[in-house]
Order: sequence, then C-alpha cells, then structure tokens
Amino acid sequence: MKTREVFDNIHWIGVNDRETVAFEGLWNIEKEGVAYNAYIINDDKVAVIDTVKAFKANEFLDNIKEVIGDKQVDYLIVNHVEPDHSSGILALRDVYPDMAIYASKKGVDMIGNFFNVCDNVHELAEGETLPLGEHTLQFFMTPMVHWPESMVTYETKTKTLFSMDIFGSFGTVNGGIFDDENDYESYEDSINRYYACIVGKVTGQAERALNKLASIEIKTICPAHGLVWRSHPEYILNKYTSLAKCEKQEGVVIVYGTMYGNTRDAVEILANELKAQGVRNIKMYDLSRVDISYAIADIWVTKGVVLAAPSYYSKIFPKMAYMLYKLSEVKVKNNKLGFVCNYSWSCGADREFERFIEETKADVASPMVLIKSGVQPEDQEKLAVLAKDMAQAMQEA
Ligand code: FEO
Repeated sequence: MKTREVFDNIHWIGVNDRETVAFEGLWNIEKEGVAYNAYIINDDKVAVIDTVKAFKANEFLDNIKEVIGDKQVDYLIVNHVEPDHSSGILALRDVYPDMAIYASKKGVDMIGNFFNVCDNVHELAEGETLPLGEHTLQFFMTPMVHWPESMVTYETKTKTLFSMDIFGSFGTVNGGIFDDENDYESYEDSINRYYACIVGKVTGQAERALNKLASIEIKTICPAHGLVWRSHPEYILNKYTSLAKCEKQEGVVIVYGTMYGNTRDAVEILANELKAQGVRNIKMYDLSRVDISYAIADIWVTKGVVLAAPSYYSKIFPKMAYMLYKLSEVKVKNNKLGFVCNYSWSCGADREFERFIEETKADVASPMVLIKSGVQPEDQEKLAVLAKDMAQAMQEA
C-alpha cells in the first residue's frame, strides 16, 4: 500500500522523487529529495487535486487505482501549473479521457501552453465552489505565490486546505506523510530553504495570501510538498508567517569565495573575532563547495551576513556574482551586512559589492574590508572592527 488515508474518502496519492538532482534545475536536492503530494477525494464525484512530475506518472496512476479501483476520475483540480505538479496531466487524461479539468483563469491558459490540453478545461473564480457529494471544494486565488495562476483548494466538510506550494518544503516523506508520524521540527531547514529559494522572491504576495487564508478555518493542511499537517497545523502556519515577514534570529552567516585560501583565512579570523564578541550562531559557506540555496536559506532567517570574495580579472569571483544576483532577486530584508574583498593587482569585487549595496539598499553594518592578497596584521585589525560592528548590529532592534 502506497497511498495514505487523510480522512474517510480523502487520500494522499503522492510520490517521492529521490532521483532529481536539482529542483527547478537550480536547487540541489540530492540529499533531501522532494515529495510531490497529490490527493484524491472519492465521493459521488471523484476529484484528484494536483498531479505529479511526469516521470512518476505510472506510480501516481497506480495510487489512484489503489483508492478508486475501476471508478472514473471526474475532476482534476490544478492548483498550480508548474510542471512538478501538472506534467502528469497527460498521463492522467489518457486513462480518464472524460475527466474535466479545473484551474484558475491563468491556469487554463498555461495548461494549454504547456500541454496543448484545451478541451474540457474550465476556469474557476475566487470563492467558487464545486460539490462532489458529501464534500464540497472551494477555491481561493493566491496569485504570484509563486506563479501568477496559483490557487488553493479548500474542502469545507473536513476544513482541509490543499495549499499547493504554500506550506511546502523540500525533503521526501519517509514512510510517514503526517506531522505526528515524524519529528516534524527536523524539517525546519528544508522548509526554510524551500521558502527562501522558491517563494522568497514573492514574499510580499505570500504574506497577502497568508492573510487571506487566515480568514478560513483550517484544521488540516495538505501541501504539494513535504508533510501533511493534521496535528500541528499551527506550526507550519506560524513558520510560514515568520518566513513571509522575513523575521530574523541572531547570528552571522559568512558566505565566501576563495581561490587559494587567502579569503578563507580572512573569514576564519573574522569568525574567531565574532565569537570573541559573543556571537554564538555563526554559519560559514564556501561557495565552491556548497549549493547557494543553503546559504540563501540561512540568510533568510539570520540577521547578520558577511559576504567575502576575491576579485577575478577586475570583476568579482564568479560564484559570488551569482550569489549577489540571487540575493538581489529574492530581496532579502532585515539583514545587517558586512563585506570583505580580496585582490592582487586591481580590485573589482568592491565595485560589484557597492553596486549590490546601492541596488538592494542593504543595511551595511561596517566599512568594507579590503585585503591585498595575504592577510596582514593591519587586515586583522580591520576584520576585528568588522566583527565588533556586526556584533553590535545584532543588538539593534
Ligand atoms: Fe512545487 Fe511551484 O511548484
């Protein structure tokens, strides 16, 4: 048995993806994997809510058969057309050709654009309902969380929210899909990383969507990724609210690039100085060794950030350039920042850091530290000043 009963006649029919290396082709999930959650309501009318990534369609179809046997699927609800949830549509429609598909107005367009599926595809309006028998579905639009067509589905009898990407996380579900079957707090890093990298850019819209959902009585949350929250929905609601507000904990995330170890030497000294200043929570990421998503996730939840990089042919170390691009894109808020540049004959990293500061209106805690090749005693003093300023910034509201 691979499916799980959420309630009488409401079943999880999702799959785990332990094969994909990079989610969206960008975010490393080699270690954690990801779950594509889908659900079925077996009522007078049978409704499937979301599909799974196409390469898992056979498993998904087997799951449907396990729940409904030879019954037909009447409706498919497409909350979100990103193909990790929608690319199973074609396989599903092959088996259930009379199935009606429902999505938001933009969703209908996008289903046509992605899959050339246009017949028997219907547009849903805000608050519209779809009766199934004992159960009734109601739909709420959540535009730009995180695509323009995104919406959520609410089941009124059990007060269950099928929330697509909202309240999701990276990480497979390992033998248990429910929060109470797992040490659910162990998913915190996966939730942070998922939010920061996937939803972070649209955090303002996410906050608006959460405010809208706050007016609905929700007892169970069934997201499209990660755990199903039936016993502790308040945990994921509070967690997402905090992430959407860009709330920070004390600490410093040091993200650095290094070619021959000199910039690494500088940040090692900086970390020692921060610790001497009483900063307990220090995380360090070498951009040549770690996917940037881990650093972005920690930056999202941590107040202090130091970016350190060498120059590279009068520009910034390319991996730091990518980091700056992503940080600019997600518009991280409420951080205190410090910067360290290293150069050998002509600097360039400093100009790109300055441009980043100007564009993002970054709250800089201390003057930029410039180091010429090896770390000299006077550089150690500058790093000590940076550490002191960062530690002081932690104390500010
Ligand atoms: Fe899980 Fe935005 O797709």
